[in-house]
Amino acid sequence: MKILVIGADGYLGWPQTMYLSNKGYEVGAVDNFSRRMWDLECGTESLIPIHSLHERINAWKELTGKTIEMFIGDITDYNFIANVIKNFSPEAIVHYGEQRCAPYSMIDRKHAVFTQVNNIVGTLNLLYAIKEFCPHCHLVKLGTMGEYGTPNIDIEEGFIEIVHNGRKDRLPYPMQPGSFYHLSKVHDSQNIMFVCKVWGLRATDLHQGVVYGVETDETQIDERLATRFDYDGIWGTVLNRFCVQAAIGHPLTVYGKGGQTRGFINIRDTMRCIELAILNPPKEGEYRVFNQITEWFTIFELAQLVQKVAKKKDLNVKISQPPNPRVEAEEHYYNVKHTKLLDLGLKPHYLSNVLLESLLDIVQRYSYRVKEETILPYVNWRSLQNPVGYIAKAPKIGKIGEKESLLGFGGEVTKTFKEMPSLSNTPRR
Ligand SMILES: NC(=O)c1ccc[n+]([C@@H]2O[C@H](COP(=O)([O-])OP(=O)(O)OC[C@H]3O[C@@H](n4cnc5c(N)ncnc54)[C@H](O)[C@@H]3O)[C@@H](O)[C@H]2O)c1
Repeated sequence: MKILVIGADGYLGWPQTMYLSNKGYEVGAVDNFSRRMWDLECGTESLIPIHSLHERINAWKELTGKTIEMFIGDITDYNFIANVIKNFSPEAIVHYGEQRCAPYSMIDRKHAVFTQVNNIVGTLNLLYAIKEFCPHCHLVKLGTMGEYGTPNIDIEEGFIEIVHNGRKDRLPYPMQPGSFYHLSKVHDSQNIMFVCKVWGLRATDLHQGVVYGVETDETQIDERLATRFDYDGIWGTVLNRFCVQAAIGHPLTVYGKGGQTRGFINIRDTMRCIELAILNPPKEGEYRVFNQITEWFTIFELAQLVQKVAKKKDLNVKISQPPNPRVEAEEHYYNVKHTKLLDLGLKPHYLSNVLLESLLDIVQRYSYRVKEETILPYVNWRSLQNPVGYIAKAPKIGKIGEKESLLGFGGEVTKTFKEMPSLSNTPRR
């Protein structure tokens, strides 16, 4: 089967490309490298060093003998994506290729507009290209659990049965997204649902929770196949940030009360969910939604978990609660239906202490690369204008034990200079 992965250079797209190639699918990889450019813009960087897509694909060929076809271009350019679909003729398309960051979308007007154009126009082009050149192809699109927001009732899988004034219907679940990024996903969902109805396309919209972990069977083969790890105040997801903070002696920053509850999923389960969706396609004209999470935690619970695991490694970790830069409910009801992928055969990997310990090990291995000035958030949801990137600090050579204070949204933290790891144990940058 031929599968096209869009966003194949990203955190999830790269391991997904290898996963599918390893399973014997013929895989094409699309990306325009914009994610790498946004890092340059923001002064941020993956903690784990990542190789270029060209090097990754060459290394994959060298190590496994398997070929991945690469298409470099922007899916907001219709001619580009239409040509790819026409020539590659995929039976399934996995669409990861969007601007995926809520804080980036909330920096200012320009970044909000960019996010919505990139995501909504890119996906709309893709829908037209599928209809024109590949109408039987199955679109597997990554949405987010953030599309639902935090309603005070159970969250269903995409649709809800409603009785209103004595009449009953099955309607799309009400969406209450919390950023311009999440709004772009809601609009995508509407466009996809619409074209399934009017053009008879088939699509699976995966409302995915926060993904954690960097190790899959394929990324572990060789360091050239590693995927990115974002921990900073713009791109970093919460568990990654807590692990980095624990490793370098920075308090874990729980924004506000910490009762915000979010769905989570291990990266290995993400890989498998996509395959399960591909192996069990919807019929033509069907638009379906799967909630792609396996468990949920409050942010405070996560901080406590990291604190507990860090203690076993003799790391004395504190939790701080700066004011919340986001506008969101800080304590709320949360109960999510997520049975459809389990029914298709998903066997979840849950967040265990063992997994957290191995994540902390990886972070400690690369802790010499942490850019501490990028950890605190500065994008404030209430402000129309936020600074665009972190001001990179030239590394200061401090004396061991000397203290330095760092400023960010919600206060000051103190860094204490520590002894450098011995060079023989330091991995290549
Ligand atoms: N990572 C998570 O925890 C998570 C959670 C829920 C949903 N998702 C969704 O999964 C998808 C992938 O997430 P990720 O964490 O791998 O993100 P990522 O930013 O690491 O990867 C996205 C990739 O898409 C590429 N891209 C973006 N716009 C493009 C365009 N116009 N044309 C071509 N390529 C483009 C980027 O260069 C990047 O390599 C996103 O749609 C995201 O919203 C991710």
